[in-house]
Amino acid sequence: MALSGFRHLPGFLDRQAQMRLKAALDDVLEVAPLFVPVMPRSGRPFSVRMTNCGDLGWVSDKAGGYRYQPTHPDTGATWPAMPRQLTTIWKAVADGAPAPEACLVNWYAPGAKMGLHVDRDEEDLSAPVVSVSLGDDAWFRIGGRKRGDPTEKVLLRSGDVLVLGGDARLAFHGIDRILPRTSDLLGEAGRINLTLRRVRLA
Ligand code: SIN
Ligand code: FE2
Repeated sequence: MALSGFRHLPGFLDRQAQMRLKAALDDVLEVAPLFVPVMPRSGRPFSVRMTNCGDLGWVSDKAGGYRYQPTHPDTGATWPAMPRQLTTIWKAVADGAPAPEACLVNWYAPGAKMGLHVDRDEEDLSAPVVSVSLGDDAWFRIGGRKRGDPTEKVLLRSGDVLVLGGDARLAFHGIDRILPRTSDLLGEAGRINLTLRRVRLA
């Protein structure tokens, strides 16, 4: 059983809301193109490509490691504003937490995955992490606060929202794999995950 504070809200966004969000993300991607994040120390690239919107964006490279910064690592430009639809979702599910500052956009091509990890690069660990899925289905895995704790799988579909709050805020989680061509939303095989986070203490 996942930790308390873990909520899966299947179908939170209907098809029309998903299409609106996809259109807003197309605008984000035009000014903030996907970049290839690289693991600290090993220098290995992630299989997921990323960009961000909002005041701060999550980036990772060999020299600087995991961190938030106000600018795109390749273009040097500030991140585009967070679409209003995302702040509305946050308000609906984040239990009164201060406004989100970062929206990490993860692009999973077929074959991409995300190893088990904890989101802990934020100063404010009391606000939940809110994630939105668009496009192909994916097997999400969530465990406990320790890496060896038992895990369970959850199928995430386009329009689903996840909330990792409370005890689940520091739970290990990741994506085992996506199921290519299970959705036609994006017009190509792949999956977008948006992760909204409060970074600094309010
Ligand atoms: C993440 O944990 O950063 C991404 C989770 C997801 O893609 O659903
Ligand atoms: Fe995460």
